Amino acid sequence: MDAIQIEGGPRLEGEIRVSGSKNASLPILAASLLTSGSSTFHNVPALNDIRTMCRLLELLGAEAELPAPAPKGSRRKADPHIVKLTTKAIKDTTAPYELVKTMRASVLVLGPLVARHGQARVSLPGGCAIGARPIDQHLKGLEAMGAKIVLEHGYVTAKAKRLRGARLVCDIPTVTGTENLMMAAALAKGHSTIENAAREPEVEELARVLNKMGARVRGAGTSVIDVDGVDELHPIEHAIIPDRIEAGTFMVAAALTRGNVLVRDCLPEHLDAVIAKLRSAGATVTAESGGIRVKGPTTILPVDITTQPFPGFPTDMQAQFMVLATRAKGQSVITENIFENRYMHVQELARMGADIMIEGRTAIIRGVPRLTGAPVMATDLRASASLILAGLVAEGRTEVLRVYHLDRGYERIEKKLRPLGARIKRVKGRM
Ligand code: EPZ
Repeated sequence: MDAIQIEGGPRLEGEIRVSGSKNASLPILAASLLTSGSSTFHNVPALNDIRTMCRLLELLGAEAELPAPAPKGSRRKADPHIVKLTTKAIKDTTAPYELVKTMRASVLVLGPLVARHGQARVSLPGGCAIGARPIDQHLKGLEAMGAKIVLEHGYVTAKAKRLRGARLVCDIPTVTGTENLMMAAALAKGHSTIENAAREPEVEELARVLNKMGARVRGAGTSVIDVDGVDELHPIEHAIIPDRIEAGTFMVAAALTRGNVLVRDCLPEHLDAVIAKLRSAGATVTAESGGIRVKGPTTILPVDITTQPFPGFPTDMQAQFMVLATRAKGQSVITENIFENRYMHVQELARMGADIMIEGRTAIIRGVPRLTGAPVMATDLRASASLILAGLVAEGRTEVLRVYHLDRGYERIEKKLRPLGARIKRVKGRM
């Protein structure tokens, strides 16, 4: 397995480009099941999760070209960030356990399959490192639209001749739950409302794509979404929005290392809560044409953070800010409200000298004068990002093991950080 080796210390300076959003791409690729014909998506991040989703869509009967072939006659090489999906007939409606267990976002094929094909058999995703992550809200909504749901042998089977519009009230805002129900409602007969909907930018982006396909979705980005079902959708071409969590991760890297970095191709309006907390930590954050510039402070100030659904502080940035807090002058308090086990990075940071105490969902972080490099273990996607960040400021060498977790959500992070001055490289054959 690969590991990433970092020699800590250098200030990061220069420009870094953000890839397309993983969490926008996954539902959008799944939405291709709602229509027949060929859709082309640009600015798709070249990540393992994207390849997994394409593999799943092919199992269901789609043809995935990743990367899409270069235009006829052009001398350019195929761009790995362009995906072409052709869905003629659905040949299978089962999302198998061996695939779903590697990527729980596979559950995003559930809504489209029932809506377009009248049935779906999807392995229950099971838990993951950060929590139980049930899908009861997805199923409750599909049932309200007339689907017959059966749970057996570790699979959920959903069947409906044709879904009918309904009033769907989520007990809690769920991102993929809202996305699944929006896709299902797009082809249902009649009008649906999704109340207590998730407001994440990735939900809004999916609604933009569905409307481009001919759907009639209104209110995405607010907590009440209206959908007038239509009989048919058509294929499209679309460029995916930038990844706000990758952008936030790079912004923290600049703040941590007293750097001066322009994070390109990101949208400030997707990062309000993150920018506010970076400023509280003493960083200078300014919008510039084409991105956001972050200058790290000489002294990092402590920050208190409570993760919330969007537009609150994102749980996907919690681990990264914890690293910032380990280097702050004073005590910070972080409360993780979204997932019940999203502190797997804490023990690894402690091995680098961090002073962190966990009490239930709350972490109390006392800033320390220095972190020291060490071999550390990645456990989940954002935890592994936090270990890379810690390695950038730790004294000596840090080796982050099992970086396949990292590769799920960050496109070759070492290649992106090296031009900024980071002493970082990927090494093969580590356990
Ligand atoms: C999405 O996961 C993201 N993944 C996650 O990003 C992100 O952390 C999460 O939203 C929260 O923002 C994708 O978009 C592919 P939820 P999702 O349903 O949809 C509970 C990353 O690092 N819940 O919004 O699975 C659930 O247990 C990943 O890129 C139910 O109880 O998250 C959690 O406590 C990690 N029942 C809370 O809601 C349900 O039916 C929010 O989960 C659904 C969710």
